[in-house]
Amino acid sequence: MPQTGKLKTKRPLKTLERAFSKAGLGSRTDARSWIAAGRVRVNGKTVRNPDQWVDLKLDRITLDGKPLQPAAKTYILLYKPKGYLTTARDPDGRPTVYDLIGGAGTWLSPVGRLDLDTSGLLLMTNDTAFAETVTDPHHKVPKTYQIKAATLLDDEQIERLRQGVELSDGPTRPAVVRRLRDGAKRTYLEMTITEGRNRQVRRMIEAVGSKVQKLVRTAIGPVHIADLPIGTWRNLAGEEVAALKFDAETQRRGGSRL
Ligand code: URA
Repeated sequence: MPQTGKLKTKRPLKTLERAFSKAGLGSRTDARSWIAAGRVRVNGKTVRNPDQWVDLKLDRITLDGKPLQPAAKTYILLYKPKGYLTTARDPDGRPTVYDLIGGAGTWLSPVGRLDLDTSGLLLMTNDTAFAETVTDPHHKVPKTYQIKAATLLDDEQIERLRQGVELSDGPTRPAVVRRLRDGAKRTYLEMTITEGRNRQVRRMIEAVGSKVQKLVRTAIGPVHIADLPIGTWRNLAGEEVAALKFDAETQRRGGSRL
């Protein structure tokens, strides 16, 4: 039957450089260098523009003559130690999370970030839709941190964290805050927030007049770091991926527990 009117088809269009990271072959920077070196062809023609749109279903893309194969969806949980960057490369040669995930078998991108000085749970995946769902603030996925504050915090300071504090980029949403214990001079807290703004936990603690001495992310939604040794990683179980997606959708529809 001839097509009339508007037919909406969802075409898998990506930029050429993006096609490589999606196929799990390397970062976009890697892809740019392969493209610039003339190693990439689209439908038999060498292409040197990394921003050219390609249709992943229809176009035949090759690297050194080998066709691009879609990578299996992979999700890992890394226990990032302090001192590792959440980026692929550092001009100063500092260690990055990629130094820790050899053996994952495919190119993975971090789901959000952890500061250099923060340790704990970092998800990495080649499933961009999943990464967007988990990081999109509208989905309000809860992220739990254990915090060593540099001072003792009184109940009023903890209550202010619970209610939400004013930061330079606007007020924070309410948080779930639990005092774990007080040392002689410091308070240990657990805090769950549903946003992922830059250095948010550190800035919240500063907003109530203290400072973070140690910060560890222990959970994202229903996924916990549990007893995974620091500096190691494991694959997420299918149930964990499903539970995280389910939670994100539920939170978005207004089922927030916070
Ligand atoms: N909040 C911070 O301040 N730092 C992190 O790394 C994560 C959350």
